[in-house]
Amino acid sequence: MDMQNTVTRTLARVIEAIDTSDGAGVKLRRSLGRGQGTRVDPFLMLDEFSSENPDDYVAGFPPHPHRGFETVTYMLDGHMRHEDHLGNRGELRSGGVQWMTAGRGIIHSEMPQQERGRMRGFQLWINLPAAEKMKAPAYRDLQPAELPVVELADGTRVKIIAGEFEHSGQITAGPIQGLTTAPIYLDVHLPAGASFAHPVATGHNAFIYIYEGSLSVGAAGASQPLPERSAGVLSPGDRIEAQAGPHGARFLLLAARPIGEPVVQHGPFVMNTPDEIRQAIADYQAGRFGERAQAQ
Ligand code: FE2
Repeated sequence: MDMQNTVTRTLARVIEAIDTSDGAGVKLRRSLGRGQGTRVDPFLMLDEFSSENPDDYVAGFPPHPHRGFETVTYMLDGHMRHEDHLGNRGELRSGGVQWMTAGRGIIHSEMPQQERGRMRGFQLWINLPAAEKMKAPAYRDLQPAELPVVELADGTRVKIIAGEFEHSGQITAGPIQGLTTAPIYLDVHLPAGASFAHPVATGHNAFIYIYEGSLSVGAAGASQPLPERSAGVLSPGDRIEAQAGPHGARFLLLAARPIGEPVVQHGPFVMNTPDEIRQAIADYQAGRFGERAQAQ
């Protein structure tokens, strides 16, 4: 990469996660989407669930609808079963990802398949542009073996869920490609004191969520610490740099092309106008999510 024409992104803003619950009482930490002004277009929400206490997760997420965006569930530890009204059924296990495009409507459940032990992972919501909000719903179950992992000489480990990871002129592509928002979704493990650098398209929005250890974000010598279990929103630029603290760091790196359209959200429906939200509620209540999909 040409170092002379790069602008390293800095930490523009920190969105600290708050404790909340969703579904039938699953305990979560929500950073993006926790309140007004906490979205990073096109990313709407990021929840982390992490508990060894079954009371925190065993009730799961019984059947509920979505319209207008995509949900991405990444499991670090545990086992959940996804079922939806289209007849999809998937087992989401440690290291796996479920990429669901709600489009015009899906009704699904995500239920824990364990009664003890640790359950840990993330759910990310990525918006769809107006032209794609009413597209047919789709679902992809990505088993751990389908997600490439790149290990670098210094012990850095990068798992690629969406987009590409570029290092020393080598590009490794993740399984999710070709979306309008062109998301990059990486899970990065840095050993103690290691540095990380990666290009990101200039006009794309980016943030880092650190879920373990300590991390400083920005060019070496001018970086700022990102508090653990917080989302750090990055300034414009074409390169991301970060350095792990003395105990290493594990973080998610997300970047995507912003959509730049109005966002109107009502619970699990994310549209462009209040009228479209009213339509979504009416369609769901009239049982039209299932019918429409089956008519295809
Ligand atoms: Fe859901």
